[in-house]
Amino acid sequence: MRPRLLVENADLQSLSTMATPARARYLVNAGTPEDACQALSWASREGLPVQVVGGGSNLIFCDDFPGLVLHMALRGKRWEAVNGDEATLMLAAGESWHQSVLYVAGAGYRGIENLALIPGTAGAAPVQNIGAYGVELSDSFISLLAWDRQAGEPVTLDREDCRFGYRDSLFKHEPERYLILEIRLRLSRHRPFELGYGELAQWFDGRTPDSPLEVAQAVMTVRRRKLPDPEQLPNTGSFFKNPVVTVAQWEELRDQWPDMVAYPTDGGVKLAAGWLIDQCGWKGYRNRTVGVHHRQALVLINHSGGNGKQVLELARRIRDDVLERYGVLLEMEPGVVPSACGLGSPV
Ligand code: EPU
Repeated sequence: MRPRLLVENADLQSLSTMATPARARYLVNAGTPEDACQALSWASREGLPVQVVGGGSNLIFCDDFPGLVLHMALRGKRWEAVNGDEATLMLAAGESWHQSVLYVAGAGYRGIENLALIPGTAGAAPVQNIGAYGVELSDSFISLLAWDRQAGEPVTLDREDCRFGYRDSLFKHEPERYLILEIRLRLSRHRPFELGYGELAQWFDGRTPDSPLEVAQAVMTVRRRKLPDPEQLPNTGSFFKNPVVTVAQWEELRDQWPDMVAYPTDGGVKLAAGWLIDQCGWKGYRNRTVGVHHRQALVLINHSGGNGKQVLELARRIRDDVLERYGVLLEMEPGVVPSACGLGSPV
């Protein structure tokens, strides 16, 4: 039986914040776990490839998709165990991440206020372990409920199972296997605020914020200063990850480029990709359709009806320039759909 809510030859442009044109052979907007699982089983019986989409803020459509696009529109949030200062919150996969941050911070709970204004959905948050201003999702994460497509049954995965890393998780390594249905977070009324990150530290200047909402509002102001709003200027946030190099590589780079911005991290040194791209002269570049944001070189924008191939062509030129000048290979943060359209090997 065909799934409920099946749309044929569906327009995908509004499902990605980069707003590139593409169509899907089939689309299902799933409002319940049953809709989602039924659509998945149908696609598997029909031998169709499946692409799951949340808020679309971390993927680029670069061509038509020959299978089923499953848009996760599941809604719902529930406080599950409220125990003195600590609380557990369940968020359904399709909940807006930013609205959830405001909801939690507004209720006086701390833990995710630094992650305000990150576009996308709760169900997508674990995939790349979203992070900003010194905080990552994994810091508050307890577990998630997913549909295991291989085993054909629901599974609960805890923090360790999810193998979180910098913009990384199990779900990036096994993209076909799990369909995230809901996530669980541990929040607290008294956890210390994380205000060490440069721009937030400057904002509060040693003062203790009154509430998590005040921190979320500061983060929103700081982000709006240099990150474009995808509603006004289509983009997918940071287009590249900040590359991690070995200490030995870093020492060589620093000798040659003493101003290079870098931070020590587990297993090496993390370089600021925005700085590398900026130094190669790309900040503010634009051609007829796509370009690089004028305040943050890490953000590629689709300012005038560009398509996915044009976005990826620009990304490839940037990546190749950075590689040639610094010997550092930038890796894309968003996924590319269909995946065969990726950036390809460097020149
Ligand atoms: N820089 C430049 N030129 C630029 C951009 C940055 O010289 O055009 C320099 C900055 O001056 C700064 C350094 O590079 O010294 C780092 O830049 P920034 O503080 O803006 O942070 P980021 O490393 O570029 C990361 C995340 C952002 C997150 C911010 C704040 C990644 C790939 N990006 O950016 O995440 O909001 O930190 O925590 O880790 C996202 O993932 O979509 C995203 C926006």
